[in-house]
Amino acid sequence: MDPRAIGIFDSGIGGLMAVRMLRHLLPGEPILYLGDTARMPYGDRPAGEIGRLTGELTGWLLRQNVKALIAACGTISCNAGETLQQLPVPCFDVVTAAAEAAARTTRNGKVGLAATSATIHSGRFAEEIEKRTGQAVTAVPCPRLAPMIEHGANPYNHPEMITAVAEYCQPMLQSGVDTVVLGCTHYPLIAELFAQILGPEVTLIDCAGEAAKSAAKALKEQHLLVEGHSPAAVEYRFTALPPQAAQQTARRMLGEDFTPRLLPLEELTAFSAE
Ligand code: DGL
Repeated sequence: MDPRAIGIFDSGIGGLMAVRMLRHLLPGEPILYLGDTARMPYGDRPAGEIGRLTGELTGWLLRQNVKALIAACGTISCNAGETLQQLPVPCFDVVTAAAEAAARTTRNGKVGLAATSATIHSGRFAEEIEKRTGQAVTAVPCPRLAPMIEHGANPYNHPEMITAVAEYCQPMLQSGVDTVVLGCTHYPLIAELFAQILGPEVTLIDCAGEAAKSAAKALKEQHLLVEGHSPAAVEYRFTALPPQAAQQTARRMLGEDFTPRLLPLEELTAFSAE
């Protein structure tokens, strides 16, 4: 039994999808969430910079004495591998779990990957899927989506968002995919829009949810969980408070209280500089 919190982090609100799954599977686990909203999007940044920012996020979380970490961000998972591998606590990224889920799900072996530019250009996510399916992945960078989602845009009432998703889905529909990995953790927040455009034959994989499932399993095996089922506290820290619309989305998606608190950037960077 280990009463310490599990740290979950992302550039913004996308990682809340991992919180939702973990709350569902392990309600007794305390969670400390960190979103670097002040500096998102990460998905247009070079890998070296993503690695440096990731070091600041993980450094701060480790100072808060977390027992494990979930990098609930495709961009971080694919571009900050070196930083994530050197951590002194178990750390789970979104790639392996989502690639395994995609390979289990696809019937025709044709898998699509929608993710940020940095994730697609790293090649890592597609490679991990291809290793398991033996077929080329249709990988599509979707640079316009995460910032719109972060600002709380309503996917049904936002022509720019609808146009962008339709455009990004086109190559995947053309190549006949039956499974699409939402490889940026922001995208499951607009999963219904993807589903509407891709149609009922295509199964969507939520990479953050898959990461949370595999983290829950591994932490249980390692006896690192709290023994108890009464709901534990979740603390939400952000380097800039998400806009009201995004807070509402988060509340609706989590199905419970969501009270974000500010973590001033100076505090985050000061911790990591020590
Ligand atoms: N949620 C993130 C991801 O999974 C990043 C979005 C961004 O900051 O560009 O890639």
